Parts: sequence; structure tokens; C-alpha cells
Amino acid sequence: MTDTRMPAPSELSREEIDIQFRHAAEVARFHAKNGRVGDKAPLCFVQTFGCQQNEADSERIAGLAVLMGYKITNDPSEAKLILVNTCAVREHAEKKALSIIGQYKHLKDADSDVLIGVGGCMVTQKHRADQLKNSYPYVSFVFDTGSIHTLPSLVAGALAGAKRRFVIGESAGIAEGIPTERALSYKAWLSIMYGCNNFCTYCIVPYTRGRERSRTPEAILDEARSLIAGGAKDITLLGQNVNSYGKDLEGADFPSLLRSIARLDGDFRVRFMTSHPKDASDALIEVMAEEEKIVRHFHLPVQSGSDQILDRMNRRYTAEKYLGIIERLKAAIPDVSITSDIIVGFPGETEEDFELTMEMLRRVRYDMIFSFIYSPRRGTPAAEMPNQVPHEVSTARFERMLALANEISLERNQRFIGRTVRILAEDVSRTDETKITGRGDSPRPIHFTADPSVIGQFVNVKITGADTFSLNAELV
Ligand code: SAH
Ligand code: SF4
Ligand code: F3S
Repeated sequence: MTDTRMPAPSELSREEIDIQFRHAAEVARFHAKNGRVGDKAPLCFVQTFGCQQNEADSERIAGLAVLMGYKITNDPSEAKLILVNTCAVREHAEKKALSIIGQYKHLKDADSDVLIGVGGCMVTQKHRADQLKNSYPYVSFVFDTGSIHTLPSLVAGALAGAKRRFVIGESAGIAEGIPTERALSYKAWLSIMYGCNNFCTYCIVPYTRGRERSRTPEAILDEARSLIAGGAKDITLLGQNVNSYGKDLEGADFPSLLRSIARLDGDFRVRFMTSHPKDASDALIEVMAEEEKIVRHFHLPVQSGSDQILDRMNRRYTAEKYLGIIERLKAAIPDVSITSDIIVGFPGETEEDFELTMEMLRRVRYDMIFSFIYSPRRGTPAAEMPNQVPHEVSTARFERMLALANEISLERNQRFIGRTVRILAEDVSRTDETKITGRGDSPRPIHFTADPSVIGQFVNVKITGADTFSLNAELV
């Protein structure tokens, strides 16, 4: 197939990708020569920590594994290739990943043919890479988020008995054309950009994922079309700050991209995350209000309701400016669902600052919030700030906030009772096997009784009840 698109300024060359495809073919041939094909194909287990971006990356990691002749398994104990995609956003995420990697040692001990690779955000930090080098000698290779495309050469090298390799900070380009192996055909992640330039003072992401790089609108639209043709009904556009999309390209911006995707043929819906309030524009709100394929849900992380904390977080907006966006959003899309991320216990957060965040919750009335206790990240400015908040104080505030957030969630969920809504049937309910779970504009799961054959299709349901975390409905 000839590629007629103009590559983005940060796109890797075709040769760089082709080299990797050749390595993948080499690995597949190696397995075939050893009789490991068909039913005997070696298995690969990919484990993902962290955000949707990492989920999307793992789909490319799995895609490359399949290209190398592996089959994907959900059971690490039967895998010949174990790839752990790590997260570094909070200490807890790193601890979990390190502990899991530790647990895989016995698999390598039991079978020296097993290869273990570690990727993702955690490995970009020097102290973590050193730790993997020194304390996890059974890890064969390490690759950062910009080096996913090099997996075939890493696996080929490891199979040939090469020295351990650590590919970190070697590439900051976009690798187009990497195959993906998706868990579900009807729900899809679509990365529109990589990296982050915002340097919020608490956050590790700009260090782990590098500077913002946008994919071209053509590449994104091509992928969206092929997803829709492949049965995708729910597409989530991904970026750390989608509102910055296109700043590194000519003539591209997020509202226009979103509109073009929403106007593609097919029965699907599109959502996006995450928006940064500092540049969530009226143009974006207008596109959302006008295009019916865009889900009426806006995830707009506020982080704090106190201007003094927002300033020290380097968020570059005030509570008032944030509330202004929310007001315009609600005016343009009266029934919009709004969600947020909030950090509790940022250094220097006083009782008054915390109360301002509580006030923000009361004023916005979020459908749902994701709240986090501040976790100091090495190398970020906030980790060095004075007046770190004691853990007991943060925990107590966190509990108070959760109680308020839940009260508001319940009230928000109740607004749907009696309404008929069109939702995507997504899965069998995790808590009740006789029920199907779906989602509409609200981020809350909706449970209803139906035949599992509806999974992956849009259905109309009438909401009959609501609690804090979910809604009940019946098929109409
Ligand atoms: N780019 C997105 C998401 C980044 S990470 C955004 O800007 O909204 C997801 C969330 O993790 C953040 O919104 C923030 O609330 C939280 N987070 C990031 N760093 C953190 C830290 N050091 N401690 C606690 N929570 C953190
Ligand atoms: Fe982190 Fe801020 Fe970038 Fe989000 S916008 S990834 S919170 S630095
Ligand atoms: Fe995502 Fe964690 Fe990296 S939240 S961007 S995987 S640090």
C-alpha cells in the first residue's frame, strides 16, 4: 500500500519502522523453525497499569507480539513473553508494577526461555531504570513509551542471547503503521497525540512521555475509518491534553479534528480525554453541542478549587475561569455529564484551600470525580515544596470529599430516572451474571436484563432506578 499522507514533523521514517517489521518477521520465522506455530504458537502476556494512554499503547505492544508469531494470553504462567507496561503517576502504581515484576521471577526460574520485558512510564525515570538493571536481572529488556516500535528488535536480540537492553530516551517520534491487537471490536482507543508540555508541578507525565507530538488529521481519520469499518461503536480520542492537539502541525486544531471524526459515516459515538481547562475553548463546546455523535460528557480536571493551590500547581487558570467554562458548557449542552480529577493534600493545602475544593464540587455538581491523595514524584517541583501535608490530614480530607462527591453523584444519577436513553451494551455485568452493562452519556454503568447477544450494539433502555455508582434500566 502506498502511503500518500504528508508525515507529521515528528513522524519516524518509514525505514525505521520497516527495520522493525523485518525483525518481527525474523522472530516469527525463528518460532516457526522450532515448530511453534498454529496451536503451538508461543504465548504473550501483556499487563497494563495506568491510564487509557497505556491501554492504547498495550494494544500496539500486543499487535507487535502477534506480528512476531505470538498469541495473546490472559495467563502469565503459560506465557513465553511477558511484557509489563508500567505507570508512574503515583507511588502506589509503581509499587504495584515492581511487585508484579518481582513475582514473575519464578516463571523465569522455572523456564529460562521465558522473556520478560518492562515498558511504560516508570522506566523513563533514571532511578527506576537503575533499579530494574540492578535488582531485576531476569528482566531481558526495558523500553520507554517512545520505543514501543523497537520491541521486535528487542525480542529478536533477547532470543539470540544478546545482552540486556534498555531503550530509553532514544526516540521521541511518532511511529505510524504499528499494528494493534484490540481486546474488543466495538470499543476503541484512538491516540491523537503523545506527550505533554504542561508541567503541572506535581506530575511526572511530561518527564515520562516527553513533549507533545500530534498525529496528522489524515492518519487519525484513516484510523477512525478503519475502526468504524471494523465495528467500533465507541471511540475515545486520547491525549494528555487534547486541547493542545495540532499546535505542532499546520492548520490543525482539536475542535476541527473532533468535528471531522463526528461527521464520518457510520453508527458510532466519539468521546475524548483529557481536556485541560486552560485551553478548553468555546469552539470545542460549540462542536460538542452541534455534533450528535459526540458523547455529552466532558472530563475537565480541576485538581483544586483554590487559586493559590492552582497557581502553585502551575495549572494556569483560576477557579473563576474554570467555573466560567462550566457555565458555558452547561448553557450550550444542558444535560452534559461533567467529571473531574482532584488532588487532595497538595503541599501547602490548608483547611481553607480544601474547603474551596469542596465548594467547587457543590457548584459544578460533578457526575463523578476521580480523587487522588497527592503522591510526591521524584524530580517534580512539588516534591520539593515546603509544607507537605501529613498523610492523616490528606486521608481525612479525602474521606470528607468522597462523602460529598457521592452525595452529588446520587443526585446527578437520579435525573435519568424515567428517561429512555440510547446506550451501548458493553459487557455482562460484573456483579450480576444475568444482567448486561452499558454506558450512555453519563460515565456511570447502566445495568439491564437482556440477552448477551446485544453486547456490542446500541440499545434503547428506560432508566428505572439510580444509586451512587450505577443506574438500573429495562430494555424498551
Ligand atoms: N493529562 C491528564 C491526566 C494526567 S494523570 C490531565 O491533565 O488531566 C491523571 C490524574 O492523576 C491527574 O489529573 C491528577 O489528578 C492525578 N495525578 C497526577 N500526578 C499526581 C500526583 N503526583 N499525586 C496524585 N495525583 C496525581
Ligand atoms: Fe500531568 Fe498536567 Fe500534563 Fe495532565 S496536563 S499530564 S496533569 S502535566
Ligand atoms: Fe498514564 Fe501513568 Fe503514564 S497515568 S501517562 S501511564 S504515568
